Amino acid sequence: MEEFVFARVLHVLGVVLWIGGVAMVTTVLLPTLARMQSPTEAMLFFENFRRRFAAQARYSTLFVGLSGFYMTYVMDAWSRFLQWQYWWMHTMVLIWLLFTIMLFVFEPRTRKNESTDGTNKNVSSQSFVRIMRMHFVLLTLSLITVAGAVAGSHGWLISGSAS
Ligand code: HEM
Repeated sequence: MEEFVFARVLHVLGVVLWIGGVAMVTTVLLPTLARMQSPTEAMLFFENFRRRFAAQARYSTLFVGLSGFYMTYVMDAWSRFLQWQYWWMHTMVLIWLLFTIMLFVFEPRTRKNESTDGTNKNVSSQSFVRIMRMHFVLLTLSLITVAGAVAGSHGWLISGSAS
């Protein structure tokens, strides 16, 4: 029982660090960079920032994933993935998968390309609009998931009660 609560604590701490960081990037950093005079300089700053954040986010996603699957195993809650009332279980795994692929596959690949052929070739303010849009979609999906997971795991399901 204590291990389960510990897993829940780790899970929520990981989510706070990770999604909190995504929220800050989306609502503060990107809008500030998009207003900078030189898109090339702004992109350079963003890439350095992203690299540091990715290093930290890799640990948070790892903790969130391990603790999440551990809780699912302890509760033997796999059948939730077959019930639409538990849509937030599906979106948790979906978000986790999206970020895991980005952080462990695409981010290292981008870094490798930057170091071989230089960086920021065709940067314009449009590049930031695209990046901001993508972050906004991910943040919205994450916040809806957090709301659904807190409500659902404390008994407030769409059908009206917990099973
Ligand atoms: C591999 C991915 C994940 C798995 C397997 C997973 C699994 C779980 C499980 C089993 C619970 C406990 C549910 C209950 O007590 O009924 C939970 C709670 C929760 N999860 Fe996840 N999760 C994952 C990823 C995420 C992500 C990406 C987020 C954030 C976007 C998230 C946010 C939460 C929140 C906020 C809670 C509720 C904590 C509470 O109020 O006590 N999880 N998760």
